[in-house]
Amino acid sequence: MSTTYKIIDHKYDIVVIGAGGAGLRATLGMAEKGLTTACLTKVFPTRSHTVAAQGGISAALGNMGEDNWHWHRYDTVKGSDWLGDQDAIEYMCREAEPAIIELEHYGVPFSRTEEGKIYQRPFGGMTTHYGEGIAQRTCAVADRTGHAILHTLYQQSIKYQAEFFIEYFALDLIMDEEGVCRGVMALNMADGTIHRFSAQAVVLATGGYGRVYFSCTSAHICTGDGNGMVLRAGLPLQDMEFVQFHPTGIYGAGCLITEGVRGEGGFLVNSDGERFMERYAPHAKDLASRDVVSRAITIEIREGRGTGEHKDHIHLCLEHLEADIIQERLPSIAELAKIFAGVDVTKEPIPVLPTVHYNMGGIPTNHYGEVVTLKDGKPERVVPGLMAIGECACVSVHGANRLGSNSLLDIVVFGRAAAIRCSQTLVRRAPHKPLPKGAGEEALARLDRLRHANGEQSTADIRLKMQRVMQTHAAVFRTGETLQEGIEKMSDIFGLFSDVKVTDRSLIWNSDLLETLELDNMLRQALVTIHSAFNRTESRGSHAREDYPKRDDENWLKHTLAWLNADGNVTTDYRPVHMYTLTNDVEVIPPKARVY
Ligand code: FUM
Repeated sequence: MSTTYKIIDHKYDIVVIGAGGAGLRATLGMAEKGLTTACLTKVFPTRSHTVAAQGGISAALGNMGEDNWHWHRYDTVKGSDWLGDQDAIEYMCREAEPAIIELEHYGVPFSRTEEGKIYQRPFGGMTTHYGEGIAQRTCAVADRTGHAILHTLYQQSIKYQAEFFIEYFALDLIMDEEGVCRGVMALNMADGTIHRFSAQAVVLATGGYGRVYFSCTSAHICTGDGNGMVLRAGLPLQDMEFVQFHPTGIYGAGCLITEGVRGEGGFLVNSDGERFMERYAPHAKDLASRDVVSRAITIEIREGRGTGEHKDHIHLCLEHLEADIIQERLPSIAELAKIFAGVDVTKEPIPVLPTVHYNMGGIPTNHYGEVVTLKDGKPERVVPGLMAIGECACVSVHGANRLGSNSLLDIVVFGRAAAIRCSQTLVRRAPHKPLPKGAGEEALARLDRLRHANGEQSTADIRLKMQRVMQTHAAVFRTGETLQEGIEKMSDIFGLFSDVKVTDRSLIWNSDLLETLELDNMLRQALVTIHSAFNRTESRGSHAREDYPKRDDENWLKHTLAWLNADGNVTTDYRPVHMYTLTNDVEVIPPKARVY
C-alpha cells in the first residue's frame, strides 16, 4: 500500500450491510431487541432496489378464497424444481403469516378488500389443493408493494435508534485467522474517509447481481457487492447457475412489468394474435412459473412468431381490463408503459421480452441466516460472525427457480429470522476481542491499487464486454458449447481488469473508482456463474441446457458450491439438497415431473 489511510474505528453488536427490505427488516429487528446496530448502505435506504418490487408479497392468508401454508410450501418446492431446501421452505411458508401481520402493524398500507382485509392477487405457480386451483396469495400495495414496505421499515428502524451510515461503500470483510468474521471496512463516498467496523456479527444484505447482464430489471446498484466480498474472503457461492429471467421486461428498456398484470387478467400473445401459453402450460397458462413462461416466449420468437418489425418480442395485453382496475391496482404499470414503451395500456399491448430479474444463487446459509461452507470435507460448517439474508443469500428457498412474490417474503422472513437468531446468541454490548493485527490492510491495499490503476482499459468497456458475454452465453437456453465459449471469453475479460485505468484519484464522489470497485465484484460473480452453469449437465428450473434437456435427480439433486481464487480460477464442490423437513408436522415432498 503506497498511501497511508487514516482509519476511523467503530464498534457495534451488529453491522448490517445493505438497506433494502432484508437489510432493513434485520436492522429493525436487531435494534428492537436492544442490540447496537449499524446499517451501512451505498444509497439512501429508500432508494434501495426493493423499492422497485411491484406485484406483492406471498402469504397464505386466505383473505380472497381458501388457502393454507401447506399448499404454499408445495408450490414453492415444485417451483424450485426440487432444488430448494425443504427445511428452509417449511420455515418461510409457515412464518409468512406472522411476518405479514407484523408488517401490517408496522404500518405497511396494504390494498384492501371490500371487508377491509389485505388484498391478495393470483401470481404464477401459486395454487390451491396442491396444484389443482389458482390461489390468490400475493398481498399487494397496488403495484408499489416494495416501495411501501421499504418506507415503513426505514421509519421503524429510525424509531428504534438503529444507526445509518448512508452512502458508505463496503470494501471487504475483516476475517481473523480462525475464519471468524470480525467486521468490515468501508469508504464514506461523501467525504472520502475510511471506516473500520468491529462487530459481533456482520449481516450481508447486499442484494443481487443483475447488472452482470446487459439487460435486466435490476437497478444500477445491483452489483452483488456482498457476493464479491465473500469470494475474496475465500468462501464459496452457491447455485450461481440459476439466474431468473422475468418474462415481462419492457422491450428495449428492461424495466419490470409485474406478473401482477397477468394476475389481474392480462395475457401474452404472439404475432398471430394467439394466446400461446395455452400450448405450453394448458392448466396455469399465463400464470405458469416464470422459467416456463420465459422459455415459451423465447421459443415463440425463435420460431418466427415474435411481434414487432423485427419479430423479436411478444405482446402483453391488458386493453380488455376495465380502466378502474388499471387505475386502482396497476397505476405504475400504466405510467411505466407510457414512459418506456410509449404505450397507452388501455388501447395497445405492451411489448415485452424475458429480462434478467433475480439470482437464486448466492451466499449459502442455514435458515437462521448464518453463512455456511464446506470445510475439511464436512458439510455445512457455520462461518462464525457472518450472516447473509435476501437476494445475496442462498438459503435456499427458491432452488432452481423462484416463484413471483416469494422474494419479498424471503427478505422479510429471513431478515426477521436473523434478528431473532442474534437476540438469542449474542450478548448485548459485549466487549469486543481486539481486531487482528493489520485488520483491514488488505482491503485498503486493494482500494489503493484500483485508485491508482493506470492501465489501458476503461471500466465501462470491460463492464460492457462482460455484460454482452453473459447475455449471450448464459441466457434462457444454454449448451455446453455456448457456455464453454463464454468461459473462455469471461476469463479473457477478467484478465483485462489487471489493465484497468481509473482516471480520477480522489476518494470523494469518485464514480469512476466506485464503478471499478463494483466491476471487481461483478467480474468474480460472472466467472462463478458461467462455470457453475457449464458444470451442471442437466436442465432444472431456470437452468435450461439444450444438450441435457431433462432433469437428472440421480446425479444432480445437489447444490453447487463455487470458489474463486485470485487468478480467476473457479473450483466447485457439491452438497446435498435438504430433503428433510424442519418439524414432524409435515413430510418431505418427493420429486416428480413438474407440469403447470
Ligand atoms: O412481477 C413482479 O411483480 C415481481 C415480483 C417478484 O419478483 O417477486
